[in-house]
Amino acid sequence: EKGGYEHFMLKEMYEQPKAITDTFSPRIKDGKIVIDELNMTDEEIKAINKIMIVACGSAYHAGVTSKYVFEGLSRIPVEVDVASEFRYRNPILEEGTLVVVISQSGETADTLAALRESKARGAKVLGIVNVVGSSIAREADNVMYTWAGPEIAVATTKAYSAQLISLYLLAMKFAYVKGEIDDTVLSDMLEDLKSLPAQVEMLLNNKQKIQRFANRYLAARDIFFIGRGIDYAISMEGSLKLKEISYIHSEAYAAGELKHGTISLVEEGTLVASVLTQKELYKKMISNMVEVRTRGAFVMAVTMEGNTEVERAADYVIYIPETNKYFTNSLAIIPLQLFGYYVSVGRGCDVDKPRNLAKSVTVE
Ligand code: M6R
Repeated sequence: EKGGYEHFMLKEMYEQPKAITDTFSPRIKDGKIVIDELNMTDEEIKAINKIMIVACGSAYHAGVTSKYVFEGLSRIPVEVDVASEFRYRNPILEEGTLVVVISQSGETADTLAALRESKARGAKVLGIVNVVGSSIAREADNVMYTWAGPEIAVATTKAYSAQLISLYLLAMKFAYVKGEIDDTVLSDMLEDLKSLPAQVEMLLNNKQKIQRFANRYLAARDIFFIGRGIDYAISMEGSLKLKEISYIHSEAYAAGELKHGTISLVEEGTLVASVLTQKELYKKMISNMVEVRTRGAFVMAVTMEGNTEVERAADYVIYIPETNKYFTNSLAIIPLQLFGYYVSVGRGCDVDKPRNLAKSVTVE
């Protein structure tokens, strides 16, 4: 059942190119994005004045990434909240707010409760769900399925990747309908989207290099992940992947926040994984990397091909191929998933079933 792979997690990481393709291909027709499941006319899309995204764990991280994509492309303001907070905070849902709940299992108790709360307040709820016929899929007003197939490993990989794709499609669709992007931009973006599966494949095939690197950190006490903008969202997911399966303490920080406290934790040899895929933020990130390195950190960087300037501030660099600036998460997450996986394997942890965790969290 593991198809020759040592763990479900590795198998599922390798299924990402297919999960990505299966999620976008049925929704691209004649060079346009068609999301029938949305059940919204162009007029209704134009009337959306706020998007409220609610989810837990990695699905929440996909939501955080999409905030940058929705706002950047469609200029619709987005709020993202973890479901357990949202449901008890007496959320303000006004006319024109679209609630988007994201869940792999479709059974997460807090996310389901958030959906019910939103509906009770009269909001329209779109579910982005992987398990067909699950509770969230049944109760949401509309469902956009992520076609990742069954996911077994507790640490999500392919469902997360498929969530990102669904969110990109929605953001592009909204932006196009609102006239924020034209045909040329859309078709360029769709080209980049179609290149992602092969690019992901290529990054996965780098696994031995990442394994050798991961083996140096099996005894680490703390690992930090830093980034700005979308890269901060990637850092959050990279950090969760590592900690949930390796039991090494890790944190993600918006790089600009380091000076406000966290940098005092950096010691000689502390690994700081820095994500810098956003051109306009390269310089700022490089100065943050220099700051931690001056304090003894070992700096690993995940950046775009060609950004060799980073080598002056990093001890170890992983390059990812060129893509649209809104899609970088889909590539940058791959080496971080592999890193978490190999640290877990190297430490002899139960990779697919980490202690204290369940695949779907059906109690609050
Ligand atoms: O099934 P869901 O997507 O609603 O699950 C949400 C989280 O429980 C889940 O993403 C969790 O954080 C994963 N273990 C992360 O790998």
